[in-house]
Amino acid sequence: METIAVLGTGAVGKAIGNRLISLGYSVIMGSRTADNPKSLEWAAAGDRASADTFAGAASRADIVFNCTKGEATLEALGMAGRENLKGKLLIDLSNPLDFSGGMPPSLFPQWSNTSSLGEAVQHLLPDTKVVKTLNIVNCDVMVNPSIVTGELSMFTCGNDADAKARTVALLREFGWKDILDLGDIKGARGMEMILPLWIRSWGVVGHAKFGLRLVR
Ligand SMILES: NC(=O)c1ccc[n+]([C@@H]2O[C@H](COP(=O)([O-])OP(=O)(O)OC[C@H]3O[C@@H](n4cnc5c(N)ncnc54)[C@H](OP(=O)(O)O)[C@@H]3O)[C@@H](O)[C@H]2O)c1
Repeated sequence: METIAVLGTGAVGKAIGNRLISLGYSVIMGSRTADNPKSLEWAAAGDRASADTFAGAASRADIVFNCTKGEATLEALGMAGRENLKGKLLIDLSNPLDFSGGMPPSLFPQWSNTSSLGEAVQHLLPDTKVVKTLNIVNCDVMVNPSIVTGELSMFTCGNDADAKARTVALLREFGWKDILDLGDIKGARGMEMILPLWIRSWGVVGHAKFGLRLVR
């Protein structure tokens, strides 16, 4: 089985890391520093779990999940290193949320409407196969959609067909069944612009265990 890097020590990195470990993968959690207490604590919990810097994790992995803060994603992936990510599948879960004006966050204008963070990641890493997915649900739902009653839909987009196929296979391992391919990485625009709807819905529903179903 492939070794997978999870770049990010927040709730998403932990949820994805734990799920991948439970599926039998070896997982390296990456952060800015090798001695990050969160990644060290996470890595101590499992045999196939380890911790490293963004660059160390990216270089040792076959597949990489980007679970870093949206406003810092390009910086974090720059630290991971273009050469370390060359030719690899990078599954991007980040959202371009701007919290500088307080709650609720807005979308950074440079990464919305006519652009997206997914496209910016692909532009930064032209030799990496970037696939956007899972950013439209809470991290507990990402790795186990069956915690929501009723079938949810998930979207993917990216420029490389084989990379999307590998991503879809991983999504199926997580439990996703209804998966729609939105085409090239420009599909990230719509996937990221769902976030204002998600945030408002969160306030109405009162919890984060929900998602979207594309009825057709
Ligand atoms: N929370 C959810 O359920 C959810 C759902 C969908 C999508 N998302 C998206 O998933 C991503 C991760 O979310 P999260 O809540 O788990 O974590 P987060 O707090 O948004 O991000 C944590 C990660 O960002 C890195 N980071 C922060 N500032 C940085 C900087 N200046 N330079 C480099 N790296 C930096 C941190 O590095 P260190 O480890 O070194 O501190 C850490 O690994 C976000 O883009 C979010 O929008 C979240």
